[in-house]
Amino acid sequence: MDGNGRWAQRQGLPRNEGHRRGVDNVERVVKAARDQQVRHLTLYAFSVENWKRPKLEIEALMRLLEGFLKDQRKVLHENQIRLRVLGRWRDLPKRVVKLLEQTIAETEQYTDWNLNLALNYGSRTEVVDAFQSYARAALAGEEDPEKADWAAVARHLYSRDIPDPDFVIRTSGECRISNFLLLQSAYAEYYFTPVCWPEFDENRFAEAVDSYRRRERRYGLTGEQIREQEAPLSGV
Ligand code: FPP
Repeated sequence: MDGNGRWAQRQGLPRNEGHRRGVDNVERVVKAARDQQVRHLTLYAFSVENWKRPKLEIEALMRLLEGFLKDQRKVLHENQIRLRVLGRWRDLPKRVVKLLEQTIAETEQYTDWNLNLALNYGSRTEVVDAFQSYARAALAGEEDPEKADWAAVARHLYSRDIPDPDFVIRTSGECRISNFLLLQSAYAEYYFTPVCWPEFDENRFAEAVDSYRRRERRYGLTGEQIREQEAPLSGV
């Protein structure tokens, strides 16, 4: 969700107004994902590095997140969208954690549509947490380090029950990944757009998905081998 601040500055508005418009856009994109048959949509909403921002901006972001959760709880439920959260989200303000816990519990029965929020997320922190979780499981006799493979490691990532993303979109013209799902996106297709998040609406989203659908993914195979298989879009 990058470019909220720059979008606001270009309109002569305060940065926080950009974040507010960014939140409005989340609802549009969640709907667009469903229209495009994207079963998992993961939004990088707050990184571990974002704590370095000015205190007032962090407070405004947390208030926006709280407002979003209060407004969207019912909408997610009505549209049968499951909410999951990736990251050290339990370190967020208590009122936000409580709303997240409630919404996660209320929507956990849904399987078809999934909104995943990366909150207080960073890939390196995820690796550290997975490492600790794996070590504890090994000490408890639940994992055997001699038999460690990718599936065993993946069981300890925040994303343990979420498929790897097929497609990663970065808005606002930056061409870097910034610690987002680094391991999970090993085979993902990337899409960099100059459009800032508040303007990355359903039409831009559809254009991006269209670009994904025109690509050929190979996973180390030949083009001919791949054409014999289907590569449906399941996660963005
Ligand atoms: C990037 O814009 C956006 C963020 C760092 C925060 C986005 C999070 C929220 C708006 C909180 C609510 C979240 C949800 C999911 C409802 P930027 O400030 O880095 O923009 P810039 O690079 O143009 O300055």
